[in-house]
Amino acid sequence: MTDALFQPQSQNIQPALAVFAVTDACLEQASLIARQMQLPLLGHADLRASEEFPLLIWVDGNGVGLRQSGRKAPNPVLIDFVGGALGFRGKRSSHSKELVANAVGVKGENTPTVLDATAGLGRDAFILASRGCQVQMLERSPVVALMLEDALQRAVRDAEVAGIVARLRLQHANASEFMRSLAPEDFPEVVYLDPMFPERSKTASVKKEMRLLQQLLGADLDTQELFETALKVATRRVVVKRPKLAPCISDLKPHHVVEGKSGRFDIYHTRALD
Ligand SMILES: C[S@@+](CC[C@H](N)C(=O)[O-])C[C@H]1O[C@@H](n2cnc3c(N)ncnc32)[C@H](O)[C@@H]1O
Repeated sequence: MTDALFQPQSQNIQPALAVFAVTDACLEQASLIARQMQLPLLGHADLRASEEFPLLIWVDGNGVGLRQSGRKAPNPVLIDFVGGALGFRGKRSSHSKELVANAVGVKGENTPTVLDATAGLGRDAFILASRGCQVQMLERSPVVALMLEDALQRAVRDAEVAGIVARLRLQHANASEFMRSLAPEDFPEVVYLDPMFPERSKTASVKKEMRLLQQLLGADLDTQELFETALKVATRRVVVKRPKLAPCISDLKPHHVVEGKSGRFDIYHTRALD
């Protein structure tokens, strides 16, 4: 892990966040994270004090996760590219995995290079890499980038998954700035966008992981800038994931839409005949 990954970006760092070492064996890793992210460090003797912080970076023997505080809080969210429902050994193929691959234009041997400008928990990036795409992941939240980096380091140790992880690169960066700094020879074929969408209904079937991300990050309010920059650098298409009934990301009408059960992918071609 590099220091750069931990550079706090004030717009995203939540003041009410602490690092929690679940066991003494995790203290060294937890205190490194706390120091680099300039956050308070707590251990198992501080359970009561930890309740002052709505969210905790949860360091246990399994990895670096995110958890609500409180004794009755659900299990931490931990990115796991190997096991678990989202991992490689989880459901290997599903309709939604096919849809994201179709949306970016994966077809047989044709595996475009993808810049995933909103990496989040890395699920879409991992699906695309497992279909053969080289994926540059960008994540601006230092907490989410930390969880992703930790998950990649664990996954690369698994012989079956290491080949997929080799196609994933992660950078902690604001994607609009990153894209503006790209030289034309480094432009990706596809830019993939899945920004946080303002959640209106508390009863919506938002998955636990997404609820926690919403609590940590709120909505992404600069999606227009992200989209406009993406259109300038994607040599083939920009793909935007949206909730099913959400408006498009801009006034521009997509050229094509791939519909899923609860969401859709709006496709904007940036060159003819793609
Ligand atoms: C809805 S989540 C993405 C989920 C992801 N597609 C997945 O499969 O797990 C959106 C993520 O994009 C990140 N993000 C939003 N705008 C960004 C930007 N301009 N640059 C980098 N990351 C951004 C947010 O911090 C958040 O973690």
